[in-house]
Amino acid sequence: MRVLVVGGGGREHAIVWKLAQSPKVDKIYCAPGNAGIALDAECVPIKAEDIEGLCAFARESQIDLAVIGPEVPLAMGIVDEMEAAGIAAFGPNKKCSQLEASKAFTKDFLKRHSIPTAGYREFTDKQELLDAVGIFGYPMVLKADGLAAGKGVVIAETEEDARKAIEEMMGEKVFGSAGDKVVVEEFLTGVEASMLCFVDEHTIVPMESAQDYKRIFDGDKGPNTGGMGTYSPSLVFDKELEERIRREILEPTLKGFQEDGLDFKGVLFIGLMITKDGPKVIEFNNRFGDPEAQSVLMRLDSDLADIFTAVTENRLSETELKWSDKKAVCVVLASGGYPGSYEKGKEIIGLDKVDEDVVVFHAGTASDHICDASSCRSAIVTSGGRVLGVTAVGATHEEARQKAFDNVKRISFEGMQYRNDIGLIRSDLL
Ligand code: AMP
Ligand code: GLY
Repeated sequence: MRVLVVGGGGREHAIVWKLAQSPKVDKIYCAPGNAGIALDAECVPIKAEDIEGLCAFARESQIDLAVIGPEVPLAMGIVDEMEAAGIAAFGPNKKCSQLEASKAFTKDFLKRHSIPTAGYREFTDKQELLDAVGIFGYPMVLKADGLAAGKGVVIAETEEDARKAIEEMMGEKVFGSAGDKVVVEEFLTGVEASMLCFVDEHTIVPMESAQDYKRIFDGDKGPNTGGMGTYSPSLVFDKELEERIRREILEPTLKGFQEDGLDFKGVLFIGLMITKDGPKVIEFNNRFGDPEAQSVLMRLDSDLADIFTAVTENRLSETELKWSDKKAVCVVLASGGYPGSYEKGKEIIGLDKVDEDVVVFHAGTASDHICDASSCRSAIVTSGGRVLGVTAVGATHEEARQKAFDNVKRISFEGMQYRNDIGLIRSDLL
């Protein structure tokens, strides 16, 4: 089987790494990939948003399965285009991708199918929204409707902050057309958790859980990032809560997809708030989380190529997911300054010092030549905000955490930053 993985971050490295273990996979391409992915797959310099280029490449290279990592090509309709070109593709089509690409679309879906979520209202007129400022009290939750690289949500503590956010979203258009419509929600309190599920037209199957750390600094301080680390399984879930989520969220979601003619096939990532009234949906994403994929796929014992194929062929119910009992911890190493501006091109030292059973998933890395007066040598350098995900497994969370951090300390690059509390179990949050 010949596979093309689209994307070039840590999530895509984890997907490529897992696919490479499948005896059914003969060849893996990744577009555009990165310096680490290049060790497990052949990287092709086509951007993830170049749908036409990717489809042409897939046809020419006789790809049997395209796996789409990031949300942007999904929202652009890459799966519809691949299928039209006769290539099986893992990921939701354009219609279903609205579940991530439009917050209002998802809120309407949740409401229509009585799936628990925060109360909300939609606005397309700035003045109308300004007149409704504080409509659900404070903090006021404001969400740009469209894709904004995870930055389109503002939790405004005061009226002044809310007015400023409204001006930025709808006046200055800081998120571009993503802010043409703004969703205002009730503020939910509780513990956040994510649940990733494989979905085809007949079946929804949750994966093992993972806990993400969204803020840049220890103790959940500082601005939001794409995710600074994960551990799996999450300790937020127990059997009773999982059963409640299945009954109140997963089953009505699948039924809702069927009733609305949403032929969703791929990964549904459900952001949850576990409130005192039970679990509520905060958001849907339509792809693996990054860095959730890194710690979850380290624990998957089944063949990922089999699962992807089963989903594209609507045979997910025939597939059994087997998971390791081991715990996993993934620590993200980021560039200095991230999630704000940062410099690229810093040489990464120590990758060869990492233990054999620890996997360093690459995100923002590139190969380069570093020259001094006498000679040049090849090196791996930073090329993005999140650079590496050092991922370890162990019999306990603490063992996995120790191992991950022991190895983190062997790697360095100028300005490197990471959180020290990834995988530290905070009982006050459970
Ligand atoms: P989203 O992109 O919709 O997941 O929102 C980003 C983050 O904002 C979430 O992970 C939550 O921490 C927070 N958030 C979003 N919606 C709400 C809400 N209704 N109440 C409280 N916090 C929220
Ligand atoms: N780690 C959060 C996300 O992938 O959206």
